[in-house]
Amino acid sequence: MQRLITGAIAALIVALGLSTHAVADAQPEDAIKFRHAVMQTMAGNINAFMLIAFDKVDGGDYLQTHADALATSSAELDILFPAGSGDGETHALPSIWEDTDQFAEAIAQIQETALDLKAAVAGGDRKAIKGAFASLGKACKGCHENFRAEDDDSDSHSH
Ligand code: HEC
Repeated sequence: MQRLITGAIAALIVALGLSTHAVADAQPEDAIKFRHAVMQTMAGNINAFMLIAFDKVDGGDYLQTHADALATSSAELDILFPAGSGDGETHALPSIWEDTDQFAEAIAQIQETALDLKAAVAGGDRKAIKGAFASLGKACKGCHENFRAEDDDSDSHSH
């Protein structure tokens, strides 16, 4: 076990060493996988946030953690849509790279609402938290409506 872990860490260190050079010409399929991973992270944080905020679980102090994570992922959206990552296993619409002003606006929207949510949780006022959360949800949905293709299969992506 110990050896396995040490090996994995060594591999990770090698990989990290390489990554500083490889990023600029990431393969489109890796850019798409990365985008999906961050989107899934956001969905996970939203789900965890809701379970705590609506008193379904005792989340201790972790409401703030999930709000902070949503703000971090929202900031990360800036790098999730590199040119050339619109083809392949993706629901990203070409309009992302055409209506660039409108897309930038959609990103700004989620970044602002996520920061508002983070501040609201820090403030501790339940009404403010729920209002900020609703705005954040609208920002997710707004971007999906304009820039994400409808699902062809029935899955459970959050909207
Ligand atoms: C600025 C636009 C934008 C915002 C804001 C946004 N998304 Fe997305 N999201 C997309 C696009 C475009 C896709 C399709 C990506 C692809 O298939 O490559 C997507 C895909 C997803 C997916 C599916 C990922 C997968 O594995 O196929 C989930 C889940 C998701 N978003 C959740 C969220 C949540 C939750 C929020 C809000 C906290 C959010 N998104 C905010 C644009 C956005």
